[in-house]
Amino acid sequence: MSPKRIPPPSERIPPPSRRILMVCLGNICRSPLAEGILRDKARAAGLDWEIDSAGTNGYHHGEAPHSLSVKVARLNGIDISTQRARRFTAADFQRFDKIYAMAEDVVDEMRRIAGRQFDATKVDLLMNEVHPGSNEEVPDPWYGPESGYHEIYALIEQAANHVVEKYGIKESAKNR
Ligand code: 4NP
Repeated sequence: MSPKRIPPPSERIPPPSRRILMVCLGNICRSPLAEGILRDKARAAGLDWEIDSAGTNGYHHGEAPHSLSVKVARLNGIDISTQRARRFTAADFQRFDKIYAMAEDVVDEMRRIAGRQFDATKVDLLMNEVHPGSNEEVPDPWYGPESGYHEIYALIEQAANHVVEKYGIKESAKNR
């Protein structure tokens, strides 16, 4: 076996400048859309962010996003069909700089799962990026019709624009 080659600094891939996690209950309706929309906007803004999503209940582990989330994303030019659901874990507090929950019940579950590792400084409701401190939720579309998925798409898109503006400007200036 040949010794493992250590790449020179010029060839090393730098770590992402920001790691963001989107969290809902099932990780099949809201947070996969949030992951896909923010990834699309960050890429368009030239930001090397790592974006992921997870669900607190784990009922749909390994599944693709809900067909209506996939459809609504596709109608907006985003492909989220290859995402797979996973459960939120306490270790996500080590891996991510910022964790956005879609609703208050999601934060409660995150607190229960993470226990002592829960870090309130990293957590916020996603819609607080649009209306700070208002604690508005991205409503769960799971039991409703397709219109609910279009509504949450619009809410999440608005919030993603704010996130890219808020953090992106600082980071693109840093990379210059
Ligand atoms: P999500 O919607 O949290 O936006 O993915 C849900 C999907 C599935 C369930 C709950 C919410 N469920 O209980 O199976």
